[in-house]
Amino acid sequence: MNSVNWLIRMLLVFFLPYFSFSADTITLDNSIQDNNDQVIVSAGNIFALGFFSPGSSTNRYVGIWYYQIPVKTVVWVANRDNPINDSSGILRIDAGGNLALFQGNQTLPVWSTNISIAGSGSTFAQILDSGNLVFIQKNNGNAVLWQSFGYPTNTWLSYMKVGFNLRTGLNQAYTSWKSSDDPGVGNISFRMNPGVSPQLVLYKGSIPVWRSGTWTGKMWSGLPEMSRNFLINVSFVDTDDELSFSSDWKDSSLIARYVTNETGVTQRILWNNASQSWIISYSIPNDQCDFYGHCGPNGYCNPYLAQESRRDAGMLH
Ligand SMILES: *[C@@H]1O[C@H](CO)[C@@H](O)[C@H](O)[C@H]1NC(C)=O
Ligand SMILES: *[C@@H]1O[C@H](CO)[C@@H](O)[C@H](O)[C@H]1NC(C)=O
Ligand SMILES: *[C@@H]1O[C@H](CO)[C@@H](O)[C@H](O)[C@H]1NC(C)=O
Ligand SMILES: *[C@@H]1O[C@H](CO)[C@@H](O)[C@H](O)[C@H]1NC(C)=O
Ligand SMILES: *[C@@H]1O[C@H](CO)[C@@H](O)[C@H](O)[C@H]1NC(C)=O
Ligand SMILES: *[C@@H]1O[C@H](CO)[C@@H](O)[C@H](O)[C@H]1NC(C)=O
Ligand SMILES: *[C@@H]1O[C@H](CO)[C@@H](O)[C@H](O)[C@H]1NC(C)=O
Repeated sequence: MNSVNWLIRMLLVFFLPYFSFSADTITLDNSIQDNNDQVIVSAGNIFALGFFSPGSSTNRYVGIWYYQIPVKTVVWVANRDNPINDSSGILRIDAGGNLALFQGNQTLPVWSTNISIAGSGSTFAQILDSGNLVFIQKNNGNAVLWQSFGYPTNTWLSYMKVGFNLRTGLNQAYTSWKSSDDPGVGNISFRMNPGVSPQLVLYKGSIPVWRSGTWTGKMWSGLPEMSRNFLINVSFVDTDDELSFSSDWKDSSLIARYVTNETGVTQRILWNNASQSWIISYSIPNDQCDFYGHCGPNGYCNPYLAQESRRDAGMLH
């Protein structure tokens, strides 16, 4: 063996894993298959994407969950209304360049990013430490063509938006699962109501059960606790292109999510490392006064007295 061959062989031995396989991406050459238990994991080991069965169901779904948290906690579901009934699922880049989920060898996908892809740049999907699954076109400035944060299910994570992309018409709303066994679109939703004075609204079916009040420039008027809030960064955008609200935790080590639950509430849930369990730290509607219409237009109601006593009130948003 001459020295050039030897060098090439040694380089391959050491670097081949890095060239042929990237643990956080799905590419034309790197799909994930349910029957091989394959997942992709974000660079910092925060989130994983793979196949799962919710609760006591045996149906298979593609979802995103916290990689290091021992209690399997799904934050996003791809095929939420189109389960796969066996373990033949495969998530791959399809012939048209989309990220698509197939049952076995079937030709029609059960789920797809389903966008028209122009140009010659090949596409790949990558799971990020924020929990966002981004679908990117190479050789096109690495343009993000699609992202899971644009299509929320029941979980609102830091940096995710609630509201409208007014250019594309995309409504980023949060909808409950049907039950713990069925991540299909349920009838509880948490959304931005547009109009002259945009508000966040929690709906049961088409009936509003809670409203945030209007945006004052710093906070939602129905959530005065936010005025004391130094733990989160908030972002309210009201432009020709976008009407949205989002937030993130200044202490990035906090593991927190907001879940719109099929029982009719949106809850803030924090990971407690000491007890290795999730703790519900806030809930809307959080008392009777919060129920929209409960107090009537002239009714007297002071929900804040109750909230003052909450030790975590200052963390509310
Ligand atoms: C599983 O799904 C496939 C494809 O939708 C369908 O043809 C088949 O009948 C289903 N099997 C069962 C046991 O429901
Ligand atoms: C898909 O097709 C290949 C080749 O025909 C076959 O070997 C394989 O078992 C099929 N897979 C499934 C899940 O049907
Ligand atoms: C893709 O989009 C088209 C048009 O909106 C729709 O008819 C089709 O069902 C979608 N396919 C998938 C797999 O989502
Ligand atoms: C909704 O809340 C109930 C009661 O706390 C819980 O058992 C259930 O798992 C929650 N559903 C989801 C999808 O998290
Ligand atoms: C929501 O769904 C549940 C179960 O499917 C049903 O009992 C309830 O009436 C629905 N509520 C509304 C407001 O649609
Ligand atoms: C909070 O927002 C400010 C202003 O936009 C920014 O400078 C800062 O980096 C943000 N902090 C975090 C933790 O996101
Ligand atoms: C979580 O708790 C374990 C012990 O229960 C401890 O070893 C670990 O350092 C803690 N992690 C953090 C981030 O506090």
